[in-house]
Amino acid sequence: MRIDFARIDRNAPPAEGALAAMAFEGGGLSAGAEDLDKATSGAVTRAIAAAGRFTGAKGQTLDIIAPAGLDKARLAVVGSGVSADFGPEQAETFGAQAYAAVKTSGAKALTLLLPGAAPDEAARAAFGAVLASYRFDRYRTTEKPEKKPSVESVTVATDDPDAAKAAFGDLKALADAVFFSRDLVSEPANILYPAEFAKRVKALESLGLEVEILGEAEMEKLGMGSLLGVGQGSIRESQLVVIQWKNGGDTQPIAFVGKGVCFDTGGISLKPADGMEDMKWDMGGAGAVAGLMHVLAGRKARVNAIGILGLVENMPDGNAQRPGDIVTSMSGQTIEVINTDAEGRLVLADALWYCQERFKPQFMVDLATLTGAIIISLGNDYAGLFSNNDALSENLLAASKAEGEPLWRMPLPAAYEKQIESMAADLKNTGGRPGGSITAALFLQKFVNGVPWAHLDIASTAWKKPSTVPTIPDGATGYGVRLLNRMVADAYEA
Ligand code: BES
Ligand code: MN
Ligand code: ZN
Repeated sequence: MRIDFARIDRNAPPAEGALAAMAFEGGGLSAGAEDLDKATSGAVTRAIAAAGRFTGAKGQTLDIIAPAGLDKARLAVVGSGVSADFGPEQAETFGAQAYAAVKTSGAKALTLLLPGAAPDEAARAAFGAVLASYRFDRYRTTEKPEKKPSVESVTVATDDPDAAKAAFGDLKALADAVFFSRDLVSEPANILYPAEFAKRVKALESLGLEVEILGEAEMEKLGMGSLLGVGQGSIRESQLVVIQWKNGGDTQPIAFVGKGVCFDTGGISLKPADGMEDMKWDMGGAGAVAGLMHVLAGRKARVNAIGILGLVENMPDGNAQRPGDIVTSMSGQTIEVINTDAEGRLVLADALWYCQERFKPQFMVDLATLTGAIIISLGNDYAGLFSNNDALSENLLAASKAEGEPLWRMPLPAAYEKQIESMAADLKNTGGRPGGSITAALFLQKFVNGVPWAHLDIASTAWKKPSTVPTIPDGATGYGVRLLNRMVADAYEA
């Protein structure tokens, strides 16, 4: 989709296409809506009065088609909440909601009218429209034309187009990264298996990232028995991808580790058929880390960052790992595999250990669609945060607020470690139903070697159907890319 910023004559709105402006709760129109009202001899105020229940509350939109004075246009009046609250966040929602309101209307051009708004607000409105336009349609060959989006370009009408365009630069890099992540998460597992995932990440070297791919032979040499055990039932080779972004001088790197289970059948502890197709997005953690590295390079962040992806496929097979098997992790700790469906922690155990041993990072943040229990704990909006470090947690929570990707800190009580003690090995990979997300996190903590660490359980947020915010269409959310990018920008860049 094409994005432009332009100054337009406030007395002469574009004669064609879709035009969007805002109405506020408790009365009041944005400057852009006032202009439309004037150009149409009051059609906007008349429509609001006649609509009855349109209050300007967030989420509402009012369509006005071909009003006198703009008889080739359609207007979208977007409810934007209380006018005193208006800022970049509301501008983003406005752009997304306006796009969603007209995307299949037949209009090819959408103009977001934002006279009087600051350049960063104009940029955020464009960003919102872009995020809302995401679609994963590469395998649809028979979709009816009228179901396809008609909007091809979005123009933000703003007082200072150059400043808005400049502010949009980093946001464009972020949107590209979110789309990259959403694409990875949306791909089915017959297409996106570990080697294909690794290949798509390798292609990011064109952005200036360094990408190494370790195969099974290399991981065997490193002693990664825990990760390799998960992939041993698959004909697809497991991969460990190491991504480096070096633009922070001689500062100690920061590190991000992602669970990349390209498909999780559960293995011999097979999952039920109902809903198993969702397990194509069990690589959402790795997808978020790949997206983060994409945006750091895209906007040339002044930081040294490492991204590590543990990529496997968890399949039942004659060669698959069995319940009761004992594996030796790279750390030397042995693990009794009670349930082959608790595989994410087995992958992360070796990826985390490798990360801290090789890179000695300031901290590690892992992302993983790790437990169904986090959905039971927090519902469908919040991801769970588990950490051994308060400062790192505060930085993550602040970034979560700023980007609107909800996160909630969970406890890590040492007393619950009892639940993952094994009779036969150093640890077992399940801790029973009580506090299932907590015992999973406690398991991971055994592999961070005391390094400041945070674990984000994103099983609740990586995929959303139905979606609840206009910037995230149904399906892959890209959760984590915005949050981590913001944390890096606000807390760790020179
Ligand atoms: N990938 C799943 C967790 C999951 C569930 C992600 C639902 C997204 C939606 C994970 O590998 C898993 O199977 N976890 C088990 C752990 C149990 C066997 C201890 C679970 O949550 O049931
Ligand atoms: Mn599983
Ligand atoms: Zn899984």
